[in-house]
Amino acid sequence: MKLSSRKSLLRTLISVAFTATASIASAQTAAPPNASFADEFAAWQRLVSSNPAYRVAAPDVRQPAADPVPRPATLADARFLFRLRNDPVTRQSSFQAGRLRFSDHRAWLEARLSDPARRVRLWIALLVRPDGAALRIGQVRFDCDVRNRAEISIALAPRFRGRGHATPLLVRALAKAPAMRVLARIRVENEISQRAFAKAGFRRHGAVRPRPARHVVLLWRRGA
Ligand SMILES: CC(C)(COP(=O)(O)OP(=O)(O)OC[C@H]1O[C@@H](n2cnc3c(N)ncnc32)[C@H](O)[C@@H]1OP(=O)(O)O)[C@@H](O)C(=O)NCCC(=O)NCCS
Repeated sequence: MKLSSRKSLLRTLISVAFTATASIASAQTAAPPNASFADEFAAWQRLVSSNPAYRVAAPDVRQPAADPVPRPATLADARFLFRLRNDPVTRQSSFQAGRLRFSDHRAWLEARLSDPARRVRLWIALLVRPDGAALRIGQVRFDCDVRNRAEISIALAPRFRGRGHATPLLVRALAKAPAMRVLARIRVENEISQRAFAKAGFRRHGAVRPRPARHVVLLWRRGA
């Protein structure tokens, strides 16, 4: 067998093993949707530290094979989240397109993380390598309201877009959704995001809304 074919076979085997074990490990270690921050963080730590399958070999991060895993954000993620928030494409896709200052962003994050009501649930999307090292690739956020409903938003770092990560990440995050109904408000022109949400089980709700910018509402219901 040629060296290049062997390499390609090896990569395929690693990818298959890694994908399967990541799904199993995630299911085994998932904290319940109403878990505390500490429970959620502990579940994520168990995922990366206890599964021997993660110690096989590192996949090529330029061609990631495994799906991203959400873990709760901490204050140590402030810089990463700040860069993601100020990225021009992220700002273009949001309803608040202005640039933020780091000090304001950090204060916002600190307040959200220490809110006892946990009205904002912020998850960091990780690609976890078999050796346990993890790469931050994006974020998913739930904003809860009082009617057992939450609004979800997602953003991936520029180099990880267009690789099919959004849908599996949304599916995993929704398993931890803090509400029975989750809605997404997506700008009309953001077809990429609309497709990713539709594949994750969201359905269009109502007509195009004109404000604060033309957008559609997509809805997801637990168990639907
Ligand atoms: C929106 C976002 C989360 C989507 O994640 P992603 O991993 O890049 O999306 P995917 O790779 O799964 O692609 C989703 C769909 O769009 C298509 N797509 C992806 N990139 C594309 C591109 N540059 N041009 C055209 N179609 C594209 C994919 O083919 C896929 O469609 P398909 O399933 O019919 O093949 C990500 O692009 C992002 O973070 N964008 C900036 C922030 C943002 O827009 N957030 C959403 C706010 S609601």
